[in-house]
Amino acid sequence: MMFDQAFFDKPLHRQGTDCAKWDNREMLPKGGVPLWVADMDFHCDPAITKALIQRAEHPAYGYPLVSKASNEAVIGFWQRRHQVSLTPEEMLMMPSVVSGLRACVAALTQPEDKVLIMTPVYGPFFAAVKDSGRTLVEVPLKRDEESRYHIDFEQVEAQMRQGVKLVMVCSPHNPVSRLWSWEELQRISDLCAAYGAYLAVDEIHCDFVFKPNAFTSIMALEGIPPQTICMTAASKTFNIAGLKQAYLFCRDMETLQKLRRHMEVSGVESGNVFALTGTQAAYTHGDAWLDGLMEYLSASRQVVVDTLLRLLPEARVTPIEATFLAWVDVSAYEKDNDALMRRCYSNAVALTSGTFFGKEMGQGFMRVNFGCPRAQLLEGLERFAQAVKNQ
Ligand SMILES: Cc1ncc(COP(=O)(O)O)c(C=O)c1O
Repeated sequence: MMFDQAFFDKPLHRQGTDCAKWDNREMLPKGGVPLWVADMDFHCDPAITKALIQRAEHPAYGYPLVSKASNEAVIGFWQRRHQVSLTPEEMLMMPSVVSGLRACVAALTQPEDKVLIMTPVYGPFFAAVKDSGRTLVEVPLKRDEESRYHIDFEQVEAQMRQGVKLVMVCSPHNPVSRLWSWEELQRISDLCAAYGAYLAVDEIHCDFVFKPNAFTSIMALEGIPPQTICMTAASKTFNIAGLKQAYLFCRDMETLQKLRRHMEVSGVESGNVFALTGTQAAYTHGDAWLDGLMEYLSASRQVVVDTLLRLLPEARVTPIEATFLAWVDVSAYEKDNDALMRRCYSNAVALTSGTFFGKEMGQGFMRVNFGCPRAQLLEGLERFAQAVKNQ
């Protein structure tokens, strides 16, 4: 099968399938265009569908065994695509990356300990810290004239000097589409080593990196402190988030045991027969689909920039180095996100409000998910532009 433009252009009808992105009537009226939740509207790799059907046809859905082949599929993919060598002992399976973020906070820090995040960032980073009674330390990313975001290392170090226990990094960074470089990651890792903090890196967007850039996993750096934690999943990459399976990697057995124990006492269990089947198929057979997807998304990202420049010349789009998400500053038109969200709803388009990523830093920003067929994207952008201009 060819994973070309025609494949990814095919519309996918998801309405009425109990789909969070399409069927949530609080976000989107019927017939609306969703460009919000980070879930893509492409036909999944047929190799995944085939594996799931085959598994479903066997009428026994009892407790599964996490097979050697299942672990080898994850290890093989990470070696092949990201030059990271892992062993099964260094891996912990989880239902989702968010459960991993929460586990890191709960298992590796004590109440009131400081946890540092760099904002704006994916909403659950805030919740993971606040819900567990830890102290949130926010270091805002710095934005340059080209709207590119940078880590404020001076501020990070100033905070760490005062006793941060855990640093949580999003790499690549949702929502600002930044691909952190080897040097930037090394600096963060060195700071964690110097000040004795755990480093937890959410690499769920690792496969959405646009050429000529290349992803650097925290696990690929030399000399990282052994307590470094990496979290990832096939869920975003292959659009199988509904299957609920993710992984945590860590080379320090004591840290991994703390996390495993936390999962156990919280009653968090992984190992759903369909998730195991779908993930193994994705990591084993999905390379050609993924390569085709990245070509398509690379062209779509230009469509986002060009279309917004034409329809909203005063909007500013952050350079998209990674992810299928565009961070758009529309504050020249409207700064109030409640008003923006209401107007999007009236124009039957759904985007994620910038405030989900930081109440203050996100004001006047909206996030566009361009992981969908181009016709849907163009229709959504037209409606978005009208909503912004209040037409
Ligand atoms: C940075 C980041 N981490 C985690 C998640 C959610 O992952 P999961 O469904 O595995 O919890 C998302 C989803 O948008 C995300 O963007």
